[in-house]
Amino acid sequence: SGGIKAVTSLFRPSLFKNKVAIVTGGGTGIGKGITQELLYLGCKVMIASRNADRIQTGAAEMRGWLRQHGRSENQLEVATCNIRKEPEVKSLISQTLDTFGQLDFVVNNGGGQFVCPAKDISLKGWNAVVDTNLTGTFLMCREAYKQWMEANGGAIVNIIADMWKGFPMMSHSGAARSGVDNLTKSLALEWVHSGVRVNSVAPGSSIYSDTAAANYGDLSIFEENKKTVPYGRLGSVEEVSSAVCFLLSPAASFITGESLRVDAGQSLYAIATYKIPEHKTKIATYKWEDDLEQQTSDGKEK
Ligand code: ADE
Repeated sequence: SGGIKAVTSLFRPSLFKNKVAIVTGGGTGIGKGITQELLYLGCKVMIASRNADRIQTGAAEMRGWLRQHGRSENQLEVATCNIRKEPEVKSLISQTLDTFGQLDFVVNNGGGQFVCPAKDISLKGWNAVVDTNLTGTFLMCREAYKQWMEANGGAIVNIIADMWKGFPMMSHSGAARSGVDNLTKSLALEWVHSGVRVNSVAPGSSIYSDTAAANYGDLSIFEENKKTVPYGRLGSVEEVSSAVCFLLSPAASFITGESLRVDAGQSLYAIATYKIPEHKTKIATYKWEDDLEQQTSDGKEK
């Protein structure tokens, strides 16, 4: 209908009626999928991005969908916020509270990284990735808690990555997202008495989105990836957003501090996308026999 992709959910359409969410990076890729499902379920959503221009296309499309379905366009708002900047995070939370009057959910999806061998990552590049993915997520959680959730409860979902076996060529992002996995557990315990649940969702690198495809600029990366997925197919943003909506919903009321993998078992499977380059130098096997001989002769000398 009018070039607008069907937006739907397996959950009851009124599930998030009278709820308010912030989704960082909510105009593109996985964040857009999450925003669309939240909107479908009746949630009011503030999508935030460092570059507001970049999410305007996604926002316009979602407003079109709202209009077509007799919903108020006011169900969706867009804010500019660089999550690396503390004052901007503070004002994103207060702006959301001013606009919608409450804040039930935060989805920390905004982030990013670049492919680079660890030895070539500059300090600036490293800091940019850690500041966005780890520190930005921390700031969003802390401000949402202080300004609203400490007094009123809520649910937070952090989007991480398949960094469980290391993240070669994206070591900065792997370190940052592993940090978020641990932060999720700390916050879950520290904030449980306020009625705040904190969980993560870890999508596999086999999740296809037009945004990811455009970022990589090369579709063969997905074809290669497919071979390492037990299902033998790519995943969709909808398959990630349903996991996020589940964790935000009362269906997950007894779940906190958890990181849920949405990867069709890819992270369990032994075939890796990363290929070890041919060794220049082999790591030698330790020669125990020589060592024992040496010890014996040492013993004889004494
Ligand atoms: N998405 C990617 N980088 C971001 C940032 N610094 N702030 C908000 N959203 C982002």
